[in-house]
Amino acid sequence: RRRIGVLTSGGDAPGMNGAVRAVVRMAIHCDCEAYAIFEGYEGLVHGGNMIRQLHWEDVRGWLSRGGTLIGSARSMGFRERAGRMKAAKNMVLRGIDALVVCGGDGSLTGADVFRAEWPGLLSDLIAAGDLSAEQVEPYKVLNIVGLVGSIDNDMSGTDATIGCYSSLTRICDAVDDVFDTAFSHQRGFVIEVMGRHCGWLALMSAISTGADWLFLPEMPPKDGWEDDMCSVITKNRTERGKRRTIVIVAEGAQDRQLNKVSSSKIKDILTDRLGLDTRVTILGHTQRGGAACAYDRWLSTLQGVEAVRAVLEMSPQSPSPVITIRENKIMRTPLMEAVQATKDVTARIENKEFEKAMEMRDAEFKE
Ligand code: F6P
Repeated sequence: RRRIGVLTSGGDAPGMNGAVRAVVRMAIHCDCEAYAIFEGYEGLVHGGNMIRQLHWEDVRGWLSRGGTLIGSARSMGFRERAGRMKAAKNMVLRGIDALVVCGGDGSLTGADVFRAEWPGLLSDLIAAGDLSAEQVEPYKVLNIVGLVGSIDNDMSGTDATIGCYSSLTRICDAVDDVFDTAFSHQRGFVIEVMGRHCGWLALMSAISTGADWLFLPEMPPKDGWEDDMCSVITKNRTERGKRRTIVIVAEGAQDRQLNKVSSSKIKDILTDRLGLDTRVTILGHTQRGGAACAYDRWLSTLQGVEAVRAVLEMSPQSPSPVITIRENKIMRTPLMEAVQATKDVTARIENKEFEKAMEMRDAEFKE
């Protein structure tokens, strides 16, 4: 029986448990055995009881649970070749030669590096006397399949990452709550949302809550933005009778010189120029916790099923795939192509080619 490992890595995201559940159950359905690797790559390096077989009923009720029940960690050990050798040995000893990794672009790149190194790691293990040639013989090829789990929705090649819609829902609920108190006191609120280098959560939440103004990493404000922001807000409050003002700031927002757009600076502008009683609210990790929304339960289940199919259909020559969704269709995309396209967008932003970065983000939706 084929043994398939599954792990979650990087920042947790709602829906990761749904993905693990789907991988476990689809693996069993396809007459394979499923193994959970606990605490991300750390569990692979450590071995022992951090690699455990999961049965059908072990994942019961996981669809609605937040975070990742098999844990996630930033493994320093796996970054070193010596750590990856230990990981390879642990896998061979358990007969695991396929890994489904659910995480962000960094975690998925790590998996692809591991796959490329695999034959060399096995040779070194034989040379060191840790494993015999007979032991490694059945496991000469490592299959890796990626699932993108991240609230940021920052991976190119997929319309949505597992977790992004749950986080968006949580942000919208929080902004609605702030609305009530802002309305009562006729106040302004500057609300900072997560997303790392990506403005998706900020953009979508600003549209979904009808915010007054927005700051994104991909579209830094033009010179004179302070005047523009103040005039829009003044118009909204006077001519349109708005009692509350909401400005959404992506945590990665920056100006055209790549200086961070600070929420407290925006608050000071609203206070000093408009005399608006303003507060800053940083939503923090509340955006990442909690149960997965219906979309993420659905997405993680379909993608987990597809990940197992991909493992079973892969040939040794095929590049590692990442499971994506485009125009509502679950698809397989070469993992490193998606990672490279993601890096290209970040590089454009760092190079101050903001329009190009926006075009590249936009292209994903048009593809
Ligand atoms: O990638 C997910 C994310 O929540 C980002 O939005 C945020 O920048 C980062 O992780 C926070 O990381 P940590 O939990 O390590 O503080």
